[in-house]
Amino acid sequence: MLDQFEQQASTSKDKSADALDIFCRQLPLAVICEVLGLPQKDRPKFTKWFQGFSEIRNMLGIVGMLPNLRKVMNYLEQQFELFRKNPCPGLLSELVQAESEGEKLNSDELVATSFVLLAAGHETTVHLISNGLVMFLLNREQRRLVEVNPSLMPSAIDEILRLGFVIQMSKPRYVIHDTEFHDVQLRRGELIAAVFGSANIAPEKFYSPETFDITRFPNPHMTFEPVFIFVWE
Ligand code: HEM
Repeated sequence: MLDQFEQQASTSKDKSADALDIFCRQLPLAVICEVLGLPQKDRPKFTKWFQGFSEIRNMLGIVGMLPNLRKVMNYLEQQFELFRKNPCPGLLSELVQAESEGEKLNSDELVATSFVLLAAGHETTVHLISNGLVMFLLNREQRRLVEVNPSLMPSAIDEILRLGFVIQMSKPRYVIHDTEFHDVQLRRGELIAAVFGSANIAPEKFYSPETFDITRFPNPHMTFEPVFIFVWE
């Protein structure tokens, strides 16, 4: 992928290349396909089908994506058929076997499970890599730190997860009983969501919250933990 990036940059008129297309989108998809056990040759069409997901802004966007969603579902159903006849290494094939041994997943559940994995694992990681890239490009001294000391990379990734708006908010959840949270009355049945973007720059928890600091310690960001955010004190 990096070779392809260099090649595009060296052959384009303005010596530029699109990191989002060539690297940030391709790498997470390649890894998820590998984990799921989907054939390498199918990756380009997968990338194409998933391309529009991050651009969805409203209902019209969702409707526009439906044909591609259908393609993904059809494709997964075909793969399950192949895996049923021919078990292969990979998570999807294992899920199919679990089904044929009388365990829980029916055909719809198999498609839904794989789809959630693909969708949940893809966009988040694309944002992590692409936003992280931008943050390093805008903060040369931080970039220099990690170049000199690559062991800072894990803590840099945590800082990108905190400040890079990798994921803005949780899925909506319903309040199951009347309660009060930080002086706000919540009524049973109300719809609420956790906004990580805001929690991750709370001044009570983070010094200089809007500064990108890859040496930040501790870094109790909430980016993976929507369930706990409601009891975070
Ligand atoms: C930077 C990377 C990632 C971040 C920040 C992230 C964050 C999250 C968050 C916050 C949730 C909970 C959403 C909610 O309940 O409202 C979630 C759910 C989930 N994530 Fe991730 N995730 C990442 C990568 C991945 C990867 C690589 C996979 C799998 C390949 C994955 C699979 C899932 C699944 C299956 C769920 C449950 C989805 C559901 O319940 O609908 N995630 N993730």
